[in-house]
Amino acid sequence: MATARTITLAFTGASGMPYGLRLLECLLAAGATVGLVYSPAAQIVAKQECGLAFPTQPREAARWFAGRYGARPGQLSVYGRDDWMAPIASGSAPADAMAVCPCTMGTLGAIAHGLADNLIERAADVALKERRPLVLVPRETPLSAIHLENMLTLARAGATILPPAPGFYGRPRRLDDVVDFVVARVMDHLGVAHTLGPRWGERRAPPHADGA
Ligand SMILES: Cc1cc2nc3c(=O)[nH]c(=O)nc-3n(C[C@H](O)[C@H](O)[C@H](O)COP(=O)(O)O)c2cc1C
Repeated sequence: MATARTITLAFTGASGMPYGLRLLECLLAAGATVGLVYSPAAQIVAKQECGLAFPTQPREAARWFAGRYGARPGQLSVYGRDDWMAPIASGSAPADAMAVCPCTMGTLGAIAHGLADNLIERAADVALKERRPLVLVPRETPLSAIHLENMLTLARAGATILPPAPGFYGRPRRLDDVVDFVVARVMDHLGVAHTLGPRWGERRAPPHADGA
């Protein structure tokens, strides 16, 4: 598997921002070049769930995220949600794959119907038309028939619908283990190598002393 790729990453305003932030951290650590874009609702969720105030100006945001996650110069770009001049707005740019993590039902529906009304929707539309991997990490519960039909439409169009549904057979000890379970699957589908925990069939740590 490749160890460094060009990945478009979008955060939208669904619950699950720790997945998105950990994914960004792991992509950068793996040497991927990342183009990041997030919605205003994502900023609200980041504040609510992680106590983080994402900067609104892309240039300031690029510095802020790069400092926080130790990105190399040029490794991370942040785009405004209405920046139609961003490379990821076009199929001619060399993005390898895209993830929307977390993904709202609103953005999912917009992508399913090809609205391309902002840079997140447009970049996802580009990924589909260029037949590049598009991984959506949708979060809502329960799911309505509308949500399910939109997901089916997207799966048929080539997207990977990857709900944040962690397995517990690896006996996670901490919340971070649960987050990493989901992020590992997203990295797999983006084609970025990682070492986030053992895979099924690999040797695992012995069970807890208390048998838990
Ligand atoms: C704290 C918080 C949590 C939310 N969680 C979800 C969620 O899990 N799934 C969802 O589809 N929308 C959720 N929403 C609603 C979306 O943020 C809202 O529909 C927004 O318009 C989506 O815009 P976006 O797709 O451009 O980010 C949440 C909103 C807030 C403030």
